[in-house]
Amino acid sequence: MNTFEELNIKGFIDEPIDPTLDLFDEIEKLKKEKNAVILAHYYQEPDIQDIADYIGDSLGLSQQAAKTDADVIVFAGVHFMAETAKILSPEKKVLLPDLKAGCSLSDSCPPKLFKIFKDKYPDHLVITYVNCTAELKAMSDIVCTSSNAVQIVESLPKDQKIIFGPDRNLGRYVAQKTGRDLVLWNGACMVHEIFSQQRILKLKERHPNAKFIAHPECEDAVLQMADYIGSTTGLLNYTIKNEATEFIVATESGIIHQMEKSNPDKVFIPAPPNNSCACNDCPHMRRNTLEKLYLCLKNGLPEITVPMDIIEKARIPIERMLDISAKLGL
Ligand code: 13P
Ligand code: SF4
Repeated sequence: MNTFEELNIKGFIDEPIDPTLDLFDEIEKLKKEKNAVILAHYYQEPDIQDIADYIGDSLGLSQQAAKTDADVIVFAGVHFMAETAKILSPEKKVLLPDLKAGCSLSDSCPPKLFKIFKDKYPDHLVITYVNCTAELKAMSDIVCTSSNAVQIVESLPKDQKIIFGPDRNLGRYVAQKTGRDLVLWNGACMVHEIFSQQRILKLKERHPNAKFIAHPECEDAVLQMADYIGSTTGLLNYTIKNEATEFIVATESGIIHQMEKSNPDKVFIPAPPNNSCACNDCPHMRRNTLEKLYLCLKNGLPEITVPMDIIEKARIPIERMLDISAKLGL
């Protein structure tokens, strides 16, 4: 068994697991025993998606975290998502199977530098994409996700000056959709920035009837080619409602598991990145495994902690987002 110090260095528990155990059964038993709920993002490996109580995009996951009556939330996602759950449910124990499951987009916006940036625009409101640290949220006026960013900007008066961070691609997309002049932080997601426009064009030629769908964290050149742009839930719903039978999907490839489950007769092709790989996985999301999830539920570790002063400040802009989303029926 690891000591707490070792666990903190490693970020996850690595005690040996009896290979004869059926981890699906064990996780189900532990969930009941501890009154725990497993919330998983679509970018998790298929086994984790299959054992989860709720799978969703960032908005859906925060809505679930705010309303669950479980004592323990196991967050199968990345650090900023688990932090958001802790901020919304500070009295609950929030576990992340691997504490080192971070986010390149969140890392691209260090709070100290953002503070200097924000101070240059004292008359601007700060909207931050949920993919950022709790400290950054604590400096914000409203949080948003990719499924409500456009509507949140539109809910503000037309003459309201706005800083949008940390994702420059989502920010530019929202600015185009709303016609607003947003001041953008220059951050990006490593997964969504490496799709290859040329390889996608070739794929589209080979599959002329396929719909090309993309997440708004992608670069403008990729979004310009898209038949549909949306959050992970938006993309999934589009594949269900649209009558096309082939889709080229420009986001992390974990979502394809749900697309295939919901549409067994349709074909999903991951959009290729600008390297020799066929698809594009998020190395942070994929740090979580079924084994780590089992050990974290069994040991009640690693646990997410957020200082109370940050929780109190960060909660306000997240709740504003949830209120606006509820009013708009999102
Ligand atoms: P959504 O699931 O909210 O679309 O976000 C995608 C993402 O990058 C999460 O890290
Ligand atoms: Fe962060 Fe991009 Fe991974 Fe999402 S896909 S967790 S934005 S690095």
